Amino acid sequence: MTLALTVNGARRSVRVDPRERLTDVLRERLGLTGTKVGCEAGDCGACTVLLNGEQICACMVPAGRLGGADIVTVEGLAEDGRLSRLQAAFHAHGAAQCGICTPGMLMAATDLLRRQPRPTRDQAQAALGGVLCRCTGYLKIVDAVLAAAGGAPLPGADGVTPSTMPPGPPAGAAVGARLLRSDGVGKVTGAERFGADAAPEDALWLRAVRSPHARAGFTVGDLKPLHARYPGLVRVLSWKDIPGRNRFGIYPHLKDQPALAEGQVRFRGEAVLALVGDKETVYGIADGEVPIVWTPEPPLSGLDAALAPRAPLIHDAAPGNVLCEGHVEKGDLDSAFRTADVVVTGEWETSFVEHAYIEPEAGYARRAGERIEIAACTQTPYMDRDEMALVLGLKPEQVRIIPTGIGGGFGGKLDLSLQPLIATAAWLLHRPVRCIYSRPESMASTTKRHPARVRARFAAGRDGLLRAVDFEADFNTGAYASWGPTVASRVPVHATGPYYVPAMRAHTRAIYTNDTPAGAFRGFGTPQAALAHEGLMDELAERLGRDRLEFRLANAIRAGRPTNTGQVLRASVGMAECLQRLRPHWQAGLEEAGAFNKRREPRRRGMGIACMWYGIGNTSLSNPSTLRVGIARDGAVTLFNGAVDIGQGSSTILAQICADALGIPVELIRLVVGDTDLTADAGKTSASRQTFVSGKAAELAGRDLRAKLLALAGAPAHARLALDGATARVSWDGLTRGIRLDRLEAAPDALSPTGARLPDIVLIGNGTFDPPTTPQDQHGQGIPYATYAFAAQIAQVEVDLELGTTRVLHMVAAHDVGRAINPIQVEGQIHGGIAQGLGMALMEEYVPGRTDNLHDYLIPTCGDMPRIDSILVEDPEPLAAFGAKGVGEPALVPAAPAILGAIRHATGARIQRLPATPARVREAILAAGGAP
Ligand code: FES
Ligand code: FES
Repeated sequence: MTLALTVNGARRSVRVDPRERLTDVLRERLGLTGTKVGCEAGDCGACTVLLNGEQICACMVPAGRLGGADIVTVEGLAEDGRLSRLQAAFHAHGAAQCGICTPGMLMAATDLLRRQPRPTRDQAQAALGGVLCRCTGYLKIVDAVLAAAGGAPLPGADGVTPSTMPPGPPAGAAVGARLLRSDGVGKVTGAERFGADAAPEDALWLRAVRSPHARAGFTVGDLKPLHARYPGLVRVLSWKDIPGRNRFGIYPHLKDQPALAEGQVRFRGEAVLALVGDKETVYGIADGEVPIVWTPEPPLSGLDAALAPRAPLIHDAAPGNVLCEGHVEKGDLDSAFRTADVVVTGEWETSFVEHAYIEPEAGYARRAGERIEIAACTQTPYMDRDEMALVLGLKPEQVRIIPTGIGGGFGGKLDLSLQPLIATAAWLLHRPVRCIYSRPESMASTTKRHPARVRARFAAGRDGLLRAVDFEADFNTGAYASWGPTVASRVPVHATGPYYVPAMRAHTRAIYTNDTPAGAFRGFGTPQAALAHEGLMDELAERLGRDRLEFRLANAIRAGRPTNTGQVLRASVGMAECLQRLRPHWQAGLEEAGAFNKRREPRRRGMGIACMWYGIGNTSLSNPSTLRVGIARDGAVTLFNGAVDIGQGSSTILAQICADALGIPVELIRLVVGDTDLTADAGKTSASRQTFVSGKAAELAGRDLRAKLLALAGAPAHARLALDGATARVSWDGLTRGIRLDRLEAAPDALSPTGARLPDIVLIGNGTFDPPTTPQDQHGQGIPYATYAFAAQIAQVEVDLELGTTRVLHMVAAHDVGRAINPIQVEGQIHGGIAQGLGMALMEEYVPGRTDNLHDYLIPTCGDMPRIDSILVEDPEPLAAFGAKGVGEPALVPAAPAILGAIRHATGARIQRLPATPARVREAILAAGGAP
């Protein structure tokens, strides 16, 4: 049918299938990809647009109902070529992190402000309740909506057009400034291209056929009838079509996951075949039409099944289904426990937690001669390049990874997902091939947070000091290794919490099961471990009759004291200061909760506190970053930055660091980000490493270019630099010399990673940094990380004793970040981390096959968020650029234990199985003898 409608004020006529969704009409037919798709089920709100003046989920509206409709999308918000006031407010407040939810949020907020020009905070929260955000914790979004409704100026964002960068501070003042995101305008206008937003016109579509069984053998029958029935089916790929090695995985010795299963599947959702053809065909073929004969077997689901004495092996190379173990010990543990005055023990169990990024995996691949280009969402371009070279049987230089915008990652886009499938198809067919995972497919097939079983024993003396810790944990790593070894090695180092303990032992195992593979998720196992160390610190404080904050402060690790691995941190150990800065909030919260509880309502309030430390970067492994900054003949400065910005703001802060190191205003820096043909390897965006590791590389690159410019002018180190078109002016001690950049030869070392000349670059600065670590010995002793971040958070909750429901009212987070390069981004990470910690504590539980959607799998909505106050402690790290460490993962780790501690304080209930659903809280209240 031909549809006539008005879109963003313009009359449009378009041919559609009446059954297709409005999202497809907008995105595929009209090219308006600002409207995003996160679920196609009405659950996420990413597709929110205005239909005849009211917000609706475009994925739920069939085209057949749209005749004469008036539709407004995010592309229609800008006014007279400038950001609308609402868009400018989102930009100014840092309300967009990854940005995939931002168009939906903006449309929901537009609807609100049209109906209610001066909304209250509660009204704003309610109006945004249908749009999910996994990054921001919602607070800055609500702030932005309220700011847009008020008349206050929007610093830096007022009057910004969709094509201009906001102005920055003067030279030398970028570090520490609340600079707006370098990529923020693209996010608030919907112009940023995510994995599903662009592909070559002639691209074929690919859809994987996945196993409905968690453990089964299978055979594939004759495919000719399927081809005959569906002429649009171009090819069906099986494992036999993989050109190189049908195995991938994070560690060189543990590449155990096939791109397409080879006759047996090890988890429900594993890819078996890939259908390639036109879109209607590959989505029109039902899985039941594909001739696969299954032989299901009983799956080993969960730790107990996999560890049972006669359990079959999931991988022959892993006896007992134990993938790997981790261990750290020091001191005389037996004697320390024997002589301690108080000993407490506990066991905790956690669930699979889904990343629930709003953008399902998406991208395309294209063959270019004897090279392959893969444009997809990823957190790790160079690792993808090297893995894809193995899968395709190519040299790494034959693979180009072009990261698209990434709509949230949190560790879940560190592993390969669709890349081996689209690249194999494009390679074999000499046609571009694209793929977009559905929400259920994304949830069923990609990695999760490891479910864990943690047992620990803590001992202290009557003097209030820790004596010993004994800790063991098993992590369910699912069917394939992924990041299991990383979790097993990181957790023992952190197992005691950020406290000085004279004697300790920590042992971990990663266990194969027939569950969904578990991988990297914000914290690499330390959030699970923190439940134990913080739960037992509370118990010890209680048994010793001490205040929970003061007990932690007395034991907090400090500069000069050895860690569990014998490492002596000399500087940037801000644990004690975090606790000291929280003290007044803690005392006020305790008083307030006590006063509330005197009312004898069925609701009780409680306060909880938790600490954490987090080693930045890889554990005892090299993890270098290289960044380069070049100046061109016309004076343009370009930062070639291979660190993928997954929403946390690394592109902006690396530019801030580089600008100050070079000595020019940050707005003069242009960015090339992440393309493996143009940028050097800056490692993966994980382990909170980009600020520390790539930040140092950005500083070194800036200083190197500055040194080269000053040397040309014969200027001393304190000289000032100014760029005036094709002339660089260098001034010092009353002298000024101009360097005519347009007269310089091309820099001989200005070559891309493929050896191509970087156009017009006449000088280039190089920066490489690899944090100094050492391997750990058989007792785990060594220097696993060059530096640690520290944090403490307090939570106030209100629990309904009869219903078991928990509401988090307020959190205060104190984080030692070394130096806050950009406080807006740091606060954003803290808010987002707390939101994910709240979800882990209270509601998130992924069950394979039962919660593969955003309706049954609950994540916090706008209305679930408490007030959050952030305290930034700046204890500079001498190794780091301007002292800055990371905050991405530290923000999440203490949130759940602080909330559980608050529930216990309010009710006496000791929650040891996560999440703390109302039923579990109610049961724990009853087990504790009812309300205190
Ligand atoms: S894509 Fe429409 S609600 Fe999620
Ligand atoms: S900014 Fe909201 S989902 Fe990423």
